Amino acid sequence: MPAVIIVGTQWGDEGKGKIVDYCSKQADFVVRYQGGTNAGHTIVLGEKVFKLRLVPSGVFYGNKVLIGSGVVVDPEILIKEINTLTTSGVDVDLIVSGKAHVTLPYHPILDGSWDKARGRGKIGTTKRGIGPTYTDKISRRGIRVHDLVNNTYEERVRWNVRLANKILQYVLEVDHRLDVKEILQQCSRWSTGLQRYVGNVSQTINDAIEAKRNVLFEGAQATFLDIDHGTYPFVTSSNPIAGGACVGVGVGPTKIDQVLGICKAYTTRVGKGPFPTELDDDIGIHLQEIGKEFGTVTGRPRRCGWLDLNMIRYASMINGLTSLALTKLDVLNGLERLRICVGYRWRGENITSLPIYDMGSCEPIYVEFEGWETLLDGGKLCSEAKAYIAKIEEETGLQIDYISTGPKRVDTICRRSVW
Ligand code: IMP
Repeated sequence: MPAVIIVGTQWGDEGKGKIVDYCSKQADFVVRYQGGTNAGHTIVLGEKVFKLRLVPSGVFYGNKVLIGSGVVVDPEILIKEINTLTTSGVDVDLIVSGKAHVTLPYHPILDGSWDKARGRGKIGTTKRGIGPTYTDKISRRGIRVHDLVNNTYEERVRWNVRLANKILQYVLEVDHRLDVKEILQQCSRWSTGLQRYVGNVSQTINDAIEAKRNVLFEGAQATFLDIDHGTYPFVTSSNPIAGGACVGVGVGPTKIDQVLGICKAYTTRVGKGPFPTELDDDIGIHLQEIGKEFGTVTGRPRRCGWLDLNMIRYASMINGLTSLALTKLDVLNGLERLRICVGYRWRGENITSLPIYDMGSCEPIYVEFEGWETLLDGGKLCSEAKAYIAKIEEETGLQIDYISTGPKRVDTICRRSVW
């Protein structure tokens, strides 16, 4: 009967999709609370691989899945995703919040053009229009799902397209011009396509919690990409942290029982920004290849490095984590020696905290571990892996509830259920 938030503790791509899918088995409702099509959750079911960008990963257990008001919805992609799932025989019982903002064709164009214009300060966004959609939301000129399905968008879309064309022409000096007629036609198609899915997400989730049903809040991206608490400006434009779940769904913080942090056994990052434990050597390339560390959305190679426990401690504080799930532990197979960062050398001092505004100046302090060839020995974790896990628990003060030892559902060790 609890309400559980699942949140990324690093820079995203921790394997949240798999853990959400695993925990969904006992969930009744799974709700996404922020982000948009910049997310890409990979779920492996038998021989099939699904890559979800908007529909919550809990959809495969026949749960009610919901998209909260904190999400930005690209209607073209959402409709395609629903169709792909439906034709694969997956039942999509979905409610989309009318308060969620809509990503329209001018947003990705502006996103790519703004990032290019930043020159050396480029963020390396996913170019999915996330920043510009949230900009419009905060500037109070955005189009909401409610506007789309009630056909109250035309005047504002015309105004927004005029504005976007002026920005493209005079500010960004880009040749691209947007055709308002075409966009309005697309809106009309999306309006029809989304009509049957729109509903009251806050009410549904609050009622579910009241009725003591199991509710899972699914975060996209992660703590260090958070607009307020991440490595600004190299962040996304929403709040992936646990507090974002309350805002992005419309539930009070007193209703939340557990916050499960997803922590990959090493660290990765896509795009620009500081990364103290980054590996520019063969081990980094090994992790990238074995861990298939290439963006689900953009295909870009992810930067790889050792596990950084200063980051996990910081994530624990910001999110109020109650436990961890450790993912992709099997990717470390075959490495002779392993390292975990347990502190930083920063401005002449050894610290175990994280100066987020100056993370680029932090030098990692490592402890070394024996590696392992095979993670599981007769279904049990090998002693070297146990030592690695124990160190994470000791340094963070958090219990590891789940250990993912491979991409499939069955490759999961559950030591304590969040339910
Ligand atoms: P945006 O969210 O597309 O604006 O991109 C901002 C930054 O967040 C870029 O560095 C992206 O690579 C990163 N980012 C956005 N979504 C994800 C994700 O799901 N996983 C990892 N990085 C992401």
